[in-house]
Amino acid sequence: MITQESIEKILSAVRIDEVVSDFVSLKRHGGNLRGLCPFHQEKTPSFFVSPSKEIYKCFGCGASGNAVRFLMEHEKYTYPETLKYLARKYNVTVDESFSEENKKEKDEIASIYIVLAFAQEFYHQYLTESNEGKSIGAEYLKQRGITDQSVKQFGLGLSPSAKDMFTAAALKKGYEEKFLTESGLSLKTNEGKLIDRFRERIMFPIFSITGRVLGFGGRVMGSSTNEAKYINSPETPIFSKGKILFGLNLAKNNIQRNDKCYLAEGYTDVIALHQAGIDNVVASLGTSLTEDHTRLIKRYTNNLTFIFDGDEAGIKASIRGIDIALKEEMNVRVIALPEGEDPDSFTQKNNASDLKLYLKKNDIDFLIFKTKFLFGEKQDDPVKKAEIVRNLIKSIIQIPNHISRSNYVKELSFELDIEEEILYRELNNQLASQSKSAKVGKDPKTQSESSPKQFDQHLKSTVSEQEKNMIKLLIIAGNTNINENRKCADLIFDTIKDTSWEIDSLGKIFQYYFTYRQEKKEYPEIKHFLHHPEPLFQEIASEVSFIDMGISENWSKKTGRDIPQNFNFIKEISYSLKHFELRKLQSMLKDNVKNLRQKDLSNEEEAHYQKIHQVLLSHISTLSKELGIAYY
Ligand code: CTP
Ligand code: MN
Repeated sequence: MITQESIEKILSAVRIDEVVSDFVSLKRHGGNLRGLCPFHQEKTPSFFVSPSKEIYKCFGCGASGNAVRFLMEHEKYTYPETLKYLARKYNVTVDESFSEENKKEKDEIASIYIVLAFAQEFYHQYLTESNEGKSIGAEYLKQRGITDQSVKQFGLGLSPSAKDMFTAAALKKGYEEKFLTESGLSLKTNEGKLIDRFRERIMFPIFSITGRVLGFGGRVMGSSTNEAKYINSPETPIFSKGKILFGLNLAKNNIQRNDKCYLAEGYTDVIALHQAGIDNVVASLGTSLTEDHTRLIKRYTNNLTFIFDGDEAGIKASIRGIDIALKEEMNVRVIALPEGEDPDSFTQKNNASDLKLYLKKNDIDFLIFKTKFLFGEKQDDPVKKAEIVRNLIKSIIQIPNHISRSNYVKELSFELDIEEEILYRELNNQLASQSKSAKVGKDPKTQSESSPKQFDQHLKSTVSEQEKNMIKLLIIAGNTNINENRKCADLIFDTIKDTSWEIDSLGKIFQYYFTYRQEKKEYPEIKHFLHHPEPLFQEIASEVSFIDMGISENWSKKTGRDIPQNFNFIKEISYSLKHFELRKLQSMLKDNVKNLRQKDLSNEEEAHYQKIHQVLLSHISTLSKELGIAYY
């Protein structure tokens, strides 16, 4: 915890114009500064910074906030990361409050960071300045096609062939033995001597998002078979393979700009792709993708493309990572390289534009890929086919978003020529057994609960999401034509005007929208919400228009509204409306059940309510299937 005092000290040192101008070129404009907005693409500057008000605001896309917000949005730092960045920029010492024990631990970690930074400089210098580096090291890199610029950009180095050259240098500098071993840079021999862990290896430093050295991967030069090709830093609190991605420090802004992240398998692949002009790429450190990895990537984009080496083992190994990315609601695509190639070898053989073309052409949706891959030649065997379907559905149920889930089922049904109905049955079975086994763990008594209960839960938890989505769509696309004489807003209004809103404030916005339309005979634009006196309106409008939608580079100028070109809002709206309809049906069903339970019902009445019950159930079941929600 950074102390409150420290926070205040940091914040009072901050000047927003100085913070922003590290990232945006600003020019005076009256009392303010002006530049091209870094949050959306524009040719004429509409991004303003007011040093006196200590805020920035873009009149093009609406992004606004203070210096902290700017860094959190632009660099995707967390709040503590932002504070630490600012503290470094303004030379403010950060006091953190710790218990004695924590403090000691924190000091130790700080010392390890310092040793690691020293090591990175040492190895880099050794590569670029020593005789060994300039001959053997340079020769190896040249043969691998790694340029001097990459050596600099990635901070590559060489560890000396001598037994303890690094350790001796570090000790001489005054670094404690303890931190040399704890950082994994030095090892203690049985005789109690301290020697270097990395010897005669090309050193790939691994950086954190904010550019601190966390550890190293060291590759033998040449192809000696009696030594491991790579040695990595050992797992420590600082260096944890499951939480680090190689190259993210360099790629993060490019990932955000491209709204896409490539995931390759190795260090050299990342470097080769950079050299070929693909700079939104990272690699995991020889492990399969973890949840922590996906969280890191999700700070910048939701679109992840795995680049597989062209061998079956690589693909099989990655499939687990893919399921994890799906579970984290990422859009997962894959590119398989030709047999026997990895991105590094492939870029050596092809020029940059061929590579780009290949990546573009072979970037395919994961499910289609997996279907084709699993099917191979075995299509004809019905037992195998059933097994494969189960396997594919297993991936699909990882996807929490029901819209994409049902899209996948559609696609799969087409791809495999199996009826959707059958696929949904399998999907529901798996969901049911999944929730059952989850419940067994918790409370055996509730085991017998049936899936409509689960369905009900699902509805409750996503109602607010649906409502927000609906408002979002309304504000963004309300004034867009569905066909010649009908606007999206009208379709929305006619369909859900009688539905009650779970979230009051969203219902109010809905009312406001249509009152405005009624009175002014036109559709309110985003700015009416952004400048509405009610703070809640502003908040939600800015949230829905700028944050939820993500900041896309392709804004549609045609309609004068900020719709990303590839955003299929008519489809979105129809899904959202179906969700609303589903809720309405669900509440009608509940009311009807009450009617059915009344005492003294005549036979006729009972039959009547029963019939309604059946009709409602069948509607609900159809709709849920369309939406990919488990219900039967
Ligand atoms: N790796 C590792 N230890 C090994 C082998 C591999 O940590 N003994 C990790 C490294 O992060 C490596 C990645 O797995 O970058 C991919 O391995 P591989 O494809 O074998 O190596 P490349 O990166 O292709 O290296 P090179 O091209 O130099 O052979
Ligand atoms: Mn390789």
